[in-house]
Amino acid sequence: MKDISSFKNSPHYPVMLDQVLNLCSPNKGGDYIDCTFGAGGYTNAILSFSNTRVISLDRDKNVSNYVSETKKNYKERFTFYNRKFSDLDKVIRKDFKADFIIFDLGISSMQIFNLNRGFSFNAKSKIDMRMGLNTFSAFDVINRCDFKTLKNIIKHFGDEKDSSKIALNIIKERKKSEINTVPKLVEIIKRSKRRNFKKKINIATQTFQALRIFVNKEISELINGLIQASKFLKKGGKLIIISFHSLEDKIVKFFFSNYSNNKPKVSRYYPYIKNDKILFEKYFNKIILPNKNEIAENSSSRSAKLRYAIRSKDNFFYPEDLKKKFEFYLNLESQYA
Ligand SMILES: C[S@@+](CC[C@H](N)C(=O)[O-])C[C@H]1O[C@@H](n2cnc3c(N)ncnc32)[C@H](O)[C@@H]1O
Repeated sequence: MKDISSFKNSPHYPVMLDQVLNLCSPNKGGDYIDCTFGAGGYTNAILSFSNTRVISLDRDKNVSNYVSETKKNYKERFTFYNRKFSDLDKVIRKDFKADFIIFDLGISSMQIFNLNRGFSFNAKSKIDMRMGLNTFSAFDVINRCDFKTLKNIIKHFGDEKDSSKIALNIIKERKKSEINTVPKLVEIIKRSKRRNFKKKINIATQTFQALRIFVNKEISELINGLIQASKFLKKGGKLIIISFHSLEDKIVKFFFSNYSNNKPKVSRYYPYIKNDKILFEKYFNKIILPNKNEIAENSSSRSAKLRYAIRSKDNFFYPEDLKKKFEFYLNLESQYA
C-alpha cells in the first residue's frame, strides 16, 4: 500500500480517504468519476496509482488552481469539468462506463473558510452561500421568499424547531430594511431561538445548513446525481457516497436498498415479493464511519457516513420511486424561481 498521508495535508482534508481507497483498489487501475473534486484529495490519491484514469467534476470555479496542479502532474489521465454532477450525462460520452463513482457531499474547507462567501456564521460579509452555477443566493431567499416557504426551508432542511419564529422575525426585520449581512441574520436567529444550554452546536447552525441546501438545491442534485451515476457505472462497479446529514443519508439508503435484489420487506408479516426493479446487488445497509484518529485530526469528519453499493448486471432503467419518495423536498427546492 502506498503512503497516502501526504494527501491529507491538502487545503481540504479528504474524509475517510483510507476507506475510500480500500473500496476502490486503485492499484488495479480502472476508470473513476470523482463527482466532487474540491481540492482534489481523492482524485490525486487515485491518480498516484499508475493505470488509473479520473474524470472529475465540481460546480465551484474556484477549484481551478487545484485542477491546474492535477493536470500538470497527470495530463492524459485526468479530465475536469466545471459542471454540476446532475449534468453528468451532458459531459460523459454515452457509451462510457466507470469502475467507480464517488460523491463526497457538502462543502469544502475552502468554501467555509472563505468568509467572503457567506457560508459561515462567523462571516462579516453579505449572505451568499452559492457553491457555483446557481441562479440565486441566500440573500435573495432571505429577502424575497414568502413566510411559508421560508419556514418550510428552515424546518425541513435544517430540522430547526424554532423555524416559525425565525421566519417570522426575518419577515418583520426585512420590512424595515434589507437583511444584507451575515451578522444581521445571526442576530435575528439568536433573538428567535428558545435557549437550550445543552446544545453544543452554534445557535445558527441549522438555519445556515437549511439555507445552503436550498440555495444549492442539494437534494435535487443528490437525487439526480445518484440516478446519473447508476447510468454510467459498469456492471459490478461501485457507487460510493459520503454524506453529512440525515436527509442525505436517508436518500442514499433508500436508493441502495429499494433497488437492490434483497429489497427489505415492508413488514416481517408481509410475504416476500420478488424485486424486479434492480440496479444493485445485495445491499447490506452497512455504514462506514471515520475512526477516532481521523475525528481527532479533522473534527468536521465526525458527521460523515459512507455507504456504497455494487451495480448489478441489470440494464439501467429510470428509478421513478426515488423521486416519488422524496417529492416533498424536490417540490420545496423548486419553490423559488
Ligand atoms: C466536501 S468537498 C469535496 C472534497 C474532495 N473530496 C477533496 O478531497 O478535496 C465537496 C465539493 O463538491 C462540490 N459540489 C457540491 N455539490 C456539487 C454538485 N451538485 N455538483 C458538482 N460539485 C458539487 C463543492 O463545490 C465542493 O468543492
